[in-house]
Parts: sequence; structure tokens; C-alpha cells
Amino acid sequence: MEEVTGVGRLKELVRQSRREGRSVGFVPTMGALHEGHVSLVRRARAECSVIVVSIFVNPLQFAAGEDFQRYPRSPEKDARLLAEAGADILYLPDAEQMYPPAFSTSIEVGGVSEGGEGAVRPRHFRGVATVVAKLFQQVDPDAAYFGRKDLQQVAVVSRMVRDLDIPVRIVVGEIIRDADGLALSSRNAYLSPEERLRAAALPRALFEAQRRASRGERDSAVMENGCRTDLERAGLRVDYVEIVDPTTMRHSERIERGNALTAAVRVGKTRLIDNVLLLEE
Ligand code: PAJ
Repeated sequence: MEEVTGVGRLKELVRQSRREGRSVGFVPTMGALHEGHVSLVRRARAECSVIVVSIFVNPLQFAAGEDFQRYPRSPEKDARLLAEAGADILYLPDAEQMYPPAFSTSIEVGGVSEGGEGAVRPRHFRGVATVVAKLFQQVDPDAAYFGRKDLQQVAVVSRMVRDLDIPVRIVVGEIIRDADGLALSSRNAYLSPEERLRAAALPRALFEAQRRASRGERDSAVMENGCRTDLERAGLRVDYVEIVDPTTMRHSERIERGNALTAAVRVGKTRLIDNVLLLEE
């Protein structure tokens, strides 16, 4: 695995691979890697012949007062995990190169980015779309891999790619969870042992809702209220619980196959998001 910081060297490597007729798979990350990220790299490894992984903690997608400064960083462990998972190029751009002082363009994806996380974190998806568009320009991948853990991010990136004719295939990886169901997240590192135990109520409530849907519940409001009550009883503060169409992120009044139940909660100071698909086998 080659570590690259300059965009010039990155492009040279990718161009060389292209000339050899190799397909390029790309996994963008912010580091502090875990099995969720690694699963995307393995999937890319199985489907493409050159794998590029980026690690860049993108300041644009953090609001003032969020955890940009203290976002977990584990560069050595990340490099080891990526080499083991079969990444070929580790791209580590620096912030000055990504955002020189005169930088002044941003990408706003309307509609899909407005509800859910977008309502709680108003400029977040603008930051995500802008950095992902830049990374796509720099890496020029055939396929890019994103986790369903960040359902709305998938919707935003997919919409952007379609709207701007960016020639990349978006591949969505399943959510990787701990033994008690909690979705792996770099932010789980913030949880105290007591909070970590309490956090497991989030996937429990989502799985319970999934069962209620399979048993016939079709009223979204009933389902959302039930789920919210479960979460609050477990001592979690609920930012939102919402049933949506995962492509448009629009609220669904009636539960239909393929809808997603999305939730964001706070456990102490830590914010956790998760989702499940409803009525899928
Ligand atoms: P980050 O939070 O590091 O996540 C990188 C990728 O890993 C995302 O596509 C995310 O959905 C996926 N991922 C995280 N936890 C996962 C889990 N438990 N199971 C499966 N996939 C999981 O998402 C970002 O970084 C950034 O917003 C980024 C796209 C890199 C832009 O800055």
C-alpha cells in the first residue's frame, strides 16, 4: 500500500492503473477506522482492481461546537487495517491543499439534505457534498463505496452524482454492528462504559420496530411514537425518529417495503444515528 499526500502523485498512480485497464474503487473516510470501514474496503477489493482509500477529517462538515477538534485519530492503526484489507493507495490530503485560503465553492444538494440530519446539522451535507465532489474529481474512481449507516449521506451523494453527471457508480454497504447491535462508529469511542451499555437501546428499539412492521403495522406515526417511547424509556434523548423513503428522504405516512426507520439520539454528550430497512427479507 502506498501512502500519498499530494494530489499530483495520486492522479499519476490512478492514471497509470487506468492505462493498464484496471478499474478503480474508492472508499472515502475520516479515519479512526473500524470494521464498518473495513467492510467497505473488502467489498471494493472484491469488485475493483485498484483500491483507493482516503482519510480526511473534513472541517467543512462540522459546525462550530461540534467535535472536529477532538474527532478520534488513529493513523498507525488505520494504515495497518487498510493494508490488511487490501487497499492499494492511502490518500491523506491535508487541509491547506483541500481548502486553500481563496476556496469559495460549495455544493448544496436540495431536498434530500434538508430533513433528518440536515435539519439538526444545517450545513453538514453541504460540507459532505463539497468534499466528496472534490475527492471524486481527484481520485476519478469507477465505483465509490458508502455505508448505509449514514443513510442520508448515501441519498445526498447519489443525488449529487446524478444531478452533476459525475461518472461514478455509488455502491452501498450494509451496516456493521457490535455483538449487542450497536452500529460501529468512530464516535462510539466517546461513550463511557455506562453510556455504551445504554446505547444498545438504540438498535434494540429499531429492531423492535422492524418486527412490528413485519407483523403488520403500517401506520408510520404509530411506529415512530412507539420507537420514540422505547428510546426515551431507555434513557436516551431523541433528536428524531422518522420513517422515510431512503432515496428521497421524504417522510412516508404509510409504511412501505424498502422504507427506512431512521433515528438520532444523544447519550450523554455523544450523538448516535442508526437506521433499519422495513419489510425487507
Ligand atoms: P466516516 O464517518 O469515516 O465513514 C466513512 C464510510 O464508512 C461512510 O460511507 C460510512 O457510512 C461508513 N460506515 C461508518 N460506520 C459504518 C458501519 N458501522 N457499517 C458500515 N459502514 C459504515 O462518512 C464519512 O466518514 C464522511 O462523511 C465522508 C463520506 C468521508 C466525507 O467526509
